[in-house]
Amino acid sequence: MAFKFVPIENLPSYQHEPDVYLEEARKANVLENPCVVPYLDVRSWEDPVLGREFVVFIRQYVWGASLERFIWANRGNVELRFIEQFLSAMFGLLFELEQRGMIHGDIHADNVLVTRPRYNLRGDVQFRVMDFKPTGHGEPSDYLGIALSLRRLLECVSYEEQQPRDRYVFEVLRNDFLGRYLLVESDPATDDRAFRPRQLQSKLDSVDEMFAAASASRGPEAAVRSVRR
Ligand SMILES: Nc1ncnc2c1ncn2[C@@H]1O[C@H](COP(=O)(O)OP(=O)(O)OP(=O)(O)O)[C@@H](O)[C@H]1O
Ligand SMILES: [Mg+2]
Repeated sequence: MAFKFVPIENLPSYQHEPDVYLEEARKANVLENPCVVPYLDVRSWEDPVLGREFVVFIRQYVWGASLERFIWANRGNVELRFIEQFLSAMFGLLFELEQRGMIHGDIHADNVLVTRPRYNLRGDVQFRVMDFKPTGHGEPSDYLGIALSLRRLLECVSYEEQQPRDRYVFEVLRNDFLGRYLLVESDPATDDRAFRPRQLQSKLDSVDEMFAAASASRGPEAAVRSVRR
């Protein structure tokens, strides 16, 4: 198990909702998406030596490193498939959040764990998300948090070493996903995929078809150029 000890004076508190700190665990446990790390318990605990009071959040332990550490350790070494899996995992989570009218409120690379389950036959990477914030906090949107991680992951790709298919996907992720769908600062109505997880996932699922169609007529290098801006 993983234990997070928070001194009670550091907990968020709202005058009319003294147990608002429980929201984080409530939110996580309502969600069915496999990315979400479930809470097993939330307890209060007094340190017998310091006489200080803590709230202890008890979660399932996840073997792995944070996405933040992963990014630092993999400069020049991140594969497009990894980024696609990351986005797919985030879109799945965003979809459930959207359907339930919820937000995460604090998605960033320190709150995502990267793990390769030991007993997964296909050896796929998994992403696990932690630290849901109580609602009504006025944080930047979850899409912005994902966009910032996407941007940093793209910076870790050695572009020139990639196959044309991966360079094509890189361009689509940078120009469309980052530039048009996730980092839209003003009017989300500018693009019909912006902030819409179902549409984003379906575009992500179709990149191989898009690449095949674009290369069939003019060849793979021209296909890459056609999406580069
Ligand atoms: N369930 C877990 N399994 C393994 N490692 C974990 C788990 N939960 C947290 N960690 C590790 O501890 C680090 C900090 O955890 P967490 O994000 O919960 O605390 P925090 O960042 O201090 O809280 P907050 O984001 O609410 O300010 C994570 O980046 C991760 O490396
Ligand atoms: Mg955190």
